[in-house]
Amino acid sequence: MNMKIAFVGKGGSGKTTLSSLFVRHLAAERVPVTAVDADINQHLGAALGLDDDRAAALTPMGGRLPLIKEYLRGENPRITSAESMIKTTPPGEGSRLLRLDEDNPVFGECAHTVELEDGVVRLLVTGPFTEADLGVACYHSKTGAVELCLNHLVDGRDEYVVVDMTAGSDSFASGMFTRFDMTFLVAEPTRKGVSVYRQYREYARDFGVALKVVGNKVQSAEDVEFLRSEAGEDLLAVFGHSDWVRTLERGRPRPFAELAESDRQVLRTLHATADASYARRDWTRYTQQMVHFHLKNAAGWGNAKTGVDLAAQVDPAFVLGEHLAQRQPA
Ligand SMILES: Nc1ncnc2c1ncn2[C@@H]1O[C@H](COP(=O)(O)OP(=O)(O)O)[C@@H](O)[C@H]1O
Ligand SMILES: [Mg+2]
Repeated sequence: MNMKIAFVGKGGSGKTTLSSLFVRHLAAERVPVTAVDADINQHLGAALGLDDDRAAALTPMGGRLPLIKEYLRGENPRITSAESMIKTTPPGEGSRLLRLDEDNPVFGECAHTVELEDGVVRLLVTGPFTEADLGVACYHSKTGAVELCLNHLVDGRDEYVVVDMTAGSDSFASGMFTRFDMTFLVAEPTRKGVSVYRQYREYARDFGVALKVVGNKVQSAEDVEFLRSEAGEDLLAVFGHSDWVRTLERGRPRPFAELAESDRQVLRTLHATADASYARRDWTRYTQQMVHFHLKNAAGWGNAKTGVDLAAQVDPAFVLGEHLAQRQPA
């Protein structure tokens, strides 16, 4: 199975920090992992130890969108050109699907190998966001490349995909937030910290999204009590205000093994919770949701932008699932 996990939350809450620590934890546990930086502030590479030059030289998925679309549409007769493919265009008969354990042009072009002390991970980045990406014009979204890839991803060997993602209105409009087996909402114990959770919870409830709150920069019993009173049962774990993270910020990284035991325990809890979420995987619903958001985006802006009736891209008989993993077109 490929577990797909998102870290979301307010800017500055610690999404990138906790994403990178979770990735380090998985690597240390010898779990293959693909890390995806889809945050407005592209810092995941740096948080995984890349120096500034290497982080700046990462190939952005946002800049390879034509290649990604051309590859994924494959021989799908309902998608007549890469130009008519929008970020929500769902796969159908003839589409090429992605497996994490294969070589394909998307990973060939965009994936980077990052060496950690405990192993290697694969890193994909959307690329820096611009003003245009952040406005209401959904089709500019850099995360479209990630969304397309998630919608075409089928399970190969056991591997984790960990996405560091801003909890913005764009992820709700496109349906990106429904693409994960588990979403960890990172919240500081402040009113602003939990306000994103309230908004996210509403969307999550409507679409059956598994959501858990991970407190961060928690320093006292009062902090925990505050988060508990706001998030109730959704509060999964609390990560401390960490000297290890502070030292990393100062450019003096310490070995991962020196992370406080209580924080390592939090990472184990996240791992176990993510693993357990697999039992709720429902490919039919997963496919229906992509169709739902595609039709919504088609009517909202996509038809007008492409000049094509994008609803015709939907293959009504198609259901994404594990059974398709073996049927890769050559
Ligand atoms: N648990 C923590 N302990 C200490 N500092 C932290 C912790 N989590 C995050 N930080 C610091 O807070 C700042 C914002 O964290 P970051 O992960 O970049 O947030 P986000 O990705 O949500 O914008 C960074 O300077 C980071 O080092
Ligand atoms: Mg960040």
